[in-house]
Amino acid sequence: MRRRNMARIQWLFNIINVIALVTSQLTDISIVTSHPEGLEEIVVPMCKNFLPYTHTRLPNSHGHTTQVEVYRHIEHYWSYMDYGCSINFRKFVCAMFLPEYDVSTSRAVGPCKELCSQAKRKCKKVMQQLRSKWPKNWKCNKFKGANSNACLKPWREPNPDRGSVHHLYCSPIRISQCQNLPYHIGSLPNLFLQRNITELQTEFGYYDSLLATGCHAHLRLFLCGTYMPFCVHNANPFTIPCRELCEEVEAACEVHFALLNGGLPWPQKVQCHRFPLAESQERLRCFMPTDQP
Ligand SMILES: *[C@@H]1O[C@H](CO)[C@@H](O)[C@H](O)[C@H]1NC(C)=O
Repeated sequence: MRRRNMARIQWLFNIINVIALVTSQLTDISIVTSHPEGLEEIVVPMCKNFLPYTHTRLPNSHGHTTQVEVYRHIEHYWSYMDYGCSINFRKFVCAMFLPEYDVSTSRAVGPCKELCSQAKRKCKKVMQQLRSKWPKNWKCNKFKGANSNACLKPWREPNPDRGSVHHLYCSPIRISQCQNLPYHIGSLPNLFLQRNITELQTEFGYYDSLLATGCHAHLRLFLCGTYMPFCVHNANPFTIPCRELCEEVEAACEVHFALLNGGLPWPQKVQCHRFPLAESQERLRCFMPTDQP
């Protein structure tokens, strides 16, 4: 049973990584937001709203000069953030590449050694099981100790909640932006193996500015069905948007997205190749806005 689950997860990860490779084209629109100290607002989707700070200063210690470069560098790790091996994994990766900047000392405030170790302790094995690796140059002892107060410390890990980890279940859609839709019940984990509703809500907030542009009438329905697949009766517990809907939304909203987010490409997670065509009988069921729930 465990082996079967692992094989399924491996399959999902392969898809996610292939998609990451395929989606390397982007429109290079850079918005220069001038800030006295050269600070810029964090716009990278896997980090924004998840950190105890909102701004960073580039270049970082890896020589990245734009958040588009940072996004490209860390998108491979997005799946581990979602998989939730540790709540400190995201914090660590984001703090390493998009550190807070302390204006009073003119120094970047990166992750503490303890934050690195905690993330590594919890995620190294999962990465190995999924045929990836803890990167060699992410050495924890090169970071400052938490007693220095000049680095980002780990959060306390919640108790693992083992039973429900890979089990698909339907429950009311509690993402606040997804109320008043024709669908009320969703299923978790989603396509990205996310199951923590607090994190889903935080991540969903990333799209508020895009929703506010009104770029497409069904953007909200599309995002809700992606982040929390609809549970349609018991027969179709995992109904995601059809590729045709994704393509329409992407075509209408991609430019707005780039303008709002420092030239970032349409996020990997909402790339249209991952959605099934309405026409074909693929293994995942999909919906179009005209369907009756
Ligand atoms: C869900 O995520 C939040 C925010 O990262 C975290 O505080 C909480 O402990 C997580 N819950 C579980 C069960 O992992």
